[in-house]
Parts: sequence; C-alpha cells; structure tokens
Amino acid sequence: MRQANRERGCVIWFTGLSGSGKTTIAQIVEHKLLDGDVPIEILDGDVVRENLSKGLGFSKEDRDINIRRIAFVAHLLQRNGAFVITAAISPYRSIRNEARGMIKEFVEVYAEAPLEVCEERDVKGLYAKARAGEIKGFTGIDDPYEAPSAAEVTCNTAQESPEESAQKVIDKLVELKYLEA
Ligand code: ADX
Repeated sequence: MRQANRERGCVIWFTGLSGSGKTTIAQIVEHKLLDGDVPIEILDGDVVRENLSKGLGFSKEDRDINIRRIAFVAHLLQRNGAFVITAAISPYRSIRNEARGMIKEFVEVYAEAPLEVCEERDVKGLYAKARAGEIKGFTGIDDPYEAPSAAEVTCNTAQESPEESAQKVIDKLVELKYLEA
C-alpha cells in the first residue's frame, strides 16, 4: 500500500492504439492506487464516448473536442487532489501536449504495441471491420496515430504482462513524488 502525496493530484494520461492495453493497465493501476488512501477516477475512452462525448465521431475535429473535454474534466479533478487516469486513444501529439500544458501534473503513459499485435487481438472486432472498409478512418488503419516522443512511461504491451506495465506506472509515480516511496 502506498500513501499519496496529498498536496498533489495528477493525471495519468494513457495513449495508444485501440487494443494496445490502455484500459487493462489503467484498471490495474487503479486497483493498486485504491489500496492507498487516494481519491481516484478513470476517464476511459469508451465510457466517455457513451456519456460526456456522446454524439461525437472520429474526425480529427471530433477527436480533438473529445480529448479537450477529457483534459478539462481531468484537470478539475486533479486540482482537487484526485488521481485521474485517462484512457483514450488520443492519437494526436499536439492535443496531448495541449492537455499537458493545461494540466501540468501530467504523466503520459504510452501503451505501445505493434499494429499487427493490436489487430490480432482485435478485442472488439473493429480492426476486421476497418480492413473490410465497414469503418472508415480507423486509427492505425486509415487514420493516423502519432506516438509520443517523450512519454514518462512506455509500456511494451506485446512483451510485458499487464501487471508489469502497471507496476512501471506506479514506480514512475513514486519517482515523481506523487506517491510516497
Ligand atoms: S480518440 O481518438 O477520440 O481518443 P477514443 O479513445 O475516445 O478515441 O475512442 C476509441 C474507441 O472507439 C476505440 O477503442 C473503438 O472501440 C471505437 N472506435 C470506433 N470507431 C473508431 C475509429 N474510427 N477510430 C478509432 N476508434 C474507433
């Protein structure tokens, strides 16, 4: 169990392709943090799109609106001392950096897995649909994904277990003094 530094909440910002493991790792990180005495919220891409961003599509413009909403809510929570985990693809570097600039207490986590691996996993069956042309503008297929150049943590999810990846995130939070050692 870890004690949170009660002065500073933070935003743990996952980014990565669909199927790269963002939600899986985020949930393990959440459980590890729940053992301590720390307010925590997850803003998961799929959940946000069912609620806060219902009606938005996947054009660059709509994705940017989606990410700005997530960043706005994450910031509100963080400045009240919460640990916030966001898990949206957030494919564009510039908008992620905009979120970083606004939030400041920002820990970017890149869930890195080769497209072939994500496609093989195809948890939701959407890559097959994108390949068949039934979904247009699918990230990694016919829409861009811009990998982070300076993420605080990179989780190679094709090689590491979800548990190992989550532990890397926790270790970074300790190193950055968001959690006490
Ligand atoms: S983001 O680009 O705006 O960050 P977000 O994480 O909210 O995306 O939503 C991604 C999820 O929406 C995917 O995991 C997938 O389930 C679904 N989805 C539907 N259409 C697309 C698409 N064209 N590109 C990517 N994901 C899509």
